[in-house]
Amino acid sequence: MSEKITIERKGGLRGEIVIPGDKSISHRAVIVGSLAEGKTSIIGLSKGDDNKRTINAFRMMGIEIEKISTDQFIINGKGIHGLNEPEDVVNSGNSGTTMRLLTGLLSGQRFFSVITGDISLRGRPMKRVVEPLGLMGAKIWGRKNGNFAPLVINGRKLAPINYVSPVASAQVKTAILLAGLYADGDTTVVEPSLSRDHTERIFGFFGADLKREGTAVTVCGGTKFEGRDIEIPGDVSSAAFFIVAALIVPDSEVLLKRVGINPSRIGILEILEKMGAKVEVLRKDETWGEPIADILVKTSHLRGVTIEGDMIPKAIDEFPILSVAASVAEGETVIRDARELRVKETDRIAAIVGELRKFGVEVEEFDDGMRISGRDNLEGCECKSFGDHRVAMSLIVAGLRASGRTIVEDTACIGTSFPEFQDMFFSLMR
Ligand code: S3P
Repeated sequence: MSEKITIERKGGLRGEIVIPGDKSISHRAVIVGSLAEGKTSIIGLSKGDDNKRTINAFRMMGIEIEKISTDQFIINGKGIHGLNEPEDVVNSGNSGTTMRLLTGLLSGQRFFSVITGDISLRGRPMKRVVEPLGLMGAKIWGRKNGNFAPLVINGRKLAPINYVSPVASAQVKTAILLAGLYADGDTTVVEPSLSRDHTERIFGFFGADLKREGTAVTVCGGTKFEGRDIEIPGDVSSAAFFIVAALIVPDSEVLLKRVGINPSRIGILEILEKMGAKVEVLRKDETWGEPIADILVKTSHLRGVTIEGDMIPKAIDEFPILSVAASVAEGETVIRDARELRVKETDRIAAIVGELRKFGVEVEEFDDGMRISGRDNLEGCECKSFGDHRVAMSLIVAGLRASGRTIVEDTACIGTSFPEFQDMFFSLMR
């Protein structure tokens, strides 16, 4: 618990920013680049702590990952059988993606490994990957009957499965697909609704044998990856804080450049559009398989909406910031089917409900969501992030719209995904 940020409303936000690389795609680029045969060059990798954890894990397993400049990394991949046993415990820090994806990958290695994380991550459920991996023959032990890290993994040859997942989770899907590389035959994951599909796209770009049909994806055991040059699109989940800030702070106009607009990630844009937001998607382009665009945002009058069902996984990381938008929208916003928010970096339903009330917002808590009654203005207050980067950044945005002074405590966690956040905000303030 450290650092706090004080916010006092000034004028509108104005200007242009380039959003740093997507966290989810950055993890996958490092993983697939390490498993590829030959060199992979990555431009625009996220500089967040979570991604450093993944880089460090592969270095511990003998992969050379060279930083060429502030913006470029080169990975000398050694193929899917090229990893070495890490000599120490792999520490995933706050990164659920690192832990869950590596648990799948490590299950199929010919070596032993132990993986842990910080206090938040050690309290997040791992059964969701440990159980399906167990069906493939993986040997994984952890606290509370395998549900909590540290996890101990005795890697071995795996059997393929056809797994119908009870949750729409890209981490679960990817863990199983990575394990499937070490199984004889085809491994299939079917999701209840589509979660982010970056794994499918990057596997395809690196030449893996992969098939997709609806919400089902199948990987062929033993498939190879070839090293590639790849540029990471800007993270739409980071862009979301600036999009909502520009919408709710009077007299704002902000252009966000080269943002990833993968359809499985842009629930935030679809929801805001329904709320009446003036958001224009310009200069659409396609990189190596991920769509990107510039996004122009202007201060708008927002209206409350209902968010539920298949929309939840498409906006799963954006509920803290969407709830800030809802607090100044006209009428009520209802969020349902979002129980997953309770097992993120913190219990995001409890955190949002408690902290928004401090700004004077009327919020009703449900087991799987909340009802937010929008109001004309927010009252400055002292609030805290619970060590959750997205809660911290959302509260700072709320503070920009609030009267008086807002103090957000425990903000060092912002570095988890977006160390550039504060400087970028200052660059837009007028
Ligand atoms: C992620 C998937 C999502 C998301 C997380 C990143 C990924 O988690 O919340 O921030 O990179 O695969 P779930 O798979 O638990 O939904």
